[in-house]
Amino acid sequence: MGSAVLEPTHAVRVLPARTDDVGRVAASVVASFVRENPHGVLGVATGGSPMALYASLAELRAEGVVATDQLTLAALDEYVGLDPADPRSYRSYVWQHIAEPWGVAAERVHVPAGSSEDDADEYERVLARLRVGLQIVGIGRNGHIGFNEPGSNPTSRTRIVTLDDDTRRANAPYFGGDVHAVPTRAMTQGIASILAAESIILVAQGAAKAEALRAALQGPVTSAVPASFLQTHPDVTVVADSAALGILS
Ligand code: F6R
Repeated sequence: MGSAVLEPTHAVRVLPARTDDVGRVAASVVASFVRENPHGVLGVATGGSPMALYASLAELRAEGVVATDQLTLAALDEYVGLDPADPRSYRSYVWQHIAEPWGVAAERVHVPAGSSEDDADEYERVLARLRVGLQIVGIGRNGHIGFNEPGSNPTSRTRIVTLDDDTRRANAPYFGGDVHAVPTRAMTQGIASILAAESIILVAQGAAKAEALRAALQGPVTSAVPASFLQTHPDVTVVADSAALGILS
């Protein structure tokens, strides 16, 4: 019964939040960045974890508290073999949950595309030109960030990867519950690409993330837990609920 807030071994700032407050707390961190960098470059994750953050920031925009219109967005990853116009593509997600509600114009929205290593190199060049100021990431229950699955090298750059079975199972709900409908490959920013951001915010909710988060923040820095490489970055903030932080009550 009852245990302390997870304490990272390195200089990672942890902001515990109530489950229904994770989005608002994370949005306030992102809003500070946007106020200081209205023309800044924001790296954006897809998936369930940051959805409340994106909605909360859209509310702040509607209230006139923060102006997101001039931001540039760069996504972490994209499925290979899915039409970008498919509603399940990450390009569609970025449009629906971020660019449109935030008023960001198409020419400032960047999402990996294509299926070749040349396409991946091209996206890496885009990232090098843009220079991400704040990168938003979620964490997979297998410890992945982006689609850098266990075994990923800390020097990895944008590339085509094969998704772990567990990742495909975790994402099956977005494909009508059919794991076989989830693409087997994706293009993802590498660990080194992600760590090139000036600052990083990781958002996590739920007990399913507790073990991965503990290993990422308190365990050894290892390719077996790609998110553990965040410990080597000088400016990481984690916003998570008590279930993800492994706090028993
Ligand atoms: C998404 C991404 C992934 C997710 C992770 C968690 O662009 O790169 O690393 O952040 O799989 O997904 P959710 O938030 O859906 O649990």
